[in-house]
Amino acid sequence: MVDLGGPDADRVVAVSRLADPRAAWGAEDFRRDARAEPRHALLLVSDGAVDLAAAELARIEAWDEPDGMWMCFWVVPGREADAGAVLWDAVLEHCGRHGVAGLRTSVASDRTGTLTLLTEAGFREVERMQRVVLTMSARPEPPVPPDGVVLRSLASDPPLLDQILVLDAETIPDIPGEPGVQVQIPGRAWWEEHLGNGVFDPRTVVLALTGGRAVSYTVLRRYAGRPEAADVEYTATARGWRGRGLAALVKRACHAAAWDAGVREVRAWNDLANAAMRAVNARLGYVRGPDVLQLRAEVVGKNAAPPVRPVAGTDRAS
Ligand SMILES: CC(C)(COP(=O)(O)OP(=O)(O)OC[C@H]1O[C@@H](n2cnc3c(N)ncnc32)[C@H](O)[C@@H]1OP(=O)(O)O)[C@@H](O)C(=O)NCCC(=O)NCCS
Repeated sequence: MVDLGGPDADRVVAVSRLADPRAAWGAEDFRRDARAEPRHALLLVSDGAVDLAAAELARIEAWDEPDGMWMCFWVVPGREADAGAVLWDAVLEHCGRHGVAGLRTSVASDRTGTLTLLTEAGFREVERMQRVVLTMSARPEPPVPPDGVVLRSLASDPPLLDQILVLDAETIPDIPGEPGVQVQIPGRAWWEEHLGNGVFDPRTVVLALTGGRAVSYTVLRRYAGRPEAADVEYTATARGWRGRGLAALVKRACHAAAWDAGVREVRAWNDLANAAMRAVNARLGYVRGPDVLQLRAEVVGKNAAPPVRPVAGTDRAS
C-alpha cells in the first residue's frame, strides 16, 4: 500500500492528471516529499486493470502543525463513490498508524465529486482562493525599473537571501487567510532546502532594491512533472513601500526570467480578501479560473476500526 517511489509514483502522477488536468506533480516531486517526511505516503486505488484514485500524504509546510499532514486527493471523475471511498479509508488507516491528528487539502471548485466526498468525510472549508493563470506565448519584455530602484535575482546575488528573510518576517503576518491561523514564517533552513532541491530556482526569485535594501520580491515554485508550469509561491512588498507598483515590477521581471528558465505558464492562488494581490495579477493579465477551496479535517479517532468498504473489483495497489 505505501510506496515511496519507483513505478507507482508514475502511476500516481497519471491518476493526478486524469483527476485534475492542472496537476503538475511528477514522480521526482513525490520522492523529494518522501525524503522530507517520514510519514509520507503515496496511495493508489486500482481495479486491477485501471488506476482510479490516488493520494499523497506529505508534510505541512505553511503552518506549524506537526500532528497534521497535507493531503493531495485525486479521483478519476465519476469514481468518487467507489474508488474515492476506498482511498479515503486508506488515508484514515495511514493516519491512524502514524498518529496523524488532522489533514489539510485544497480542491478546485469545479472538482465537484471530490468536494462532495471530502465534505461528507468531514472536511470543512477554511479559506477560498482565487486561482489565476498567465500564459506566455513570447518572452515578456523585462520592465525598466523607476529611478532609484534596482532589480536583482537571487542567482545574481545569493546573499540577498538575508533580506528575503527580513521581508518574510515583516510581510507574512499581513497575508489574508484562514481566520485566527498564522502562516509560519519560513527560516533560512527552509529557504536553503527549497533552493537546494530545485523547488525554487534562484533565477526566478526576483527582488527590487532601493539604496541597497530589498523592498519587494517574488518567488516561483517549480514542479518536476510540468517544468513549463510554475506557481507563484509568494510576492511581498515592505509595508512602507506598498502602492508604488513594486509588486507588479518584480512580477514582470520574474515573468521574463521564468521564460528564460523554460516556464510558459505562471499560476497564482490568492485569498479572495487579498484585494491588493488580486489587483496586481489582474493588471498583469492573469486570467481567473475556478476558485480553490482550502479544507481541513480532524481525523483523530475516525480510524479506530478502519471500515474498508467492499467495492466489487476494486482493490488498492501498492
Ligand atoms: C500584495 C502586495 C505584495 C502588493 O504589493 P505592492 O507593491 O503594494 O503592489 P503594487 O503597488 O504593485 O500594486 C498594488 C495594487 O493593489 C491595489 N490595491 C491596494 N489595496 C487595495 C484594496 N484594498 N482594494 C483594491 N485594490 C487595492 C492598488 O491600487 C494597486 O493596483 P493598481 O496598480 O491597479 O492601481 C503587498 O500588499 C504585500 O506585501 N502584502 C502582504 C503579503 C501578501 O499578501 N502577498 C500576497 C500573497 S501571495
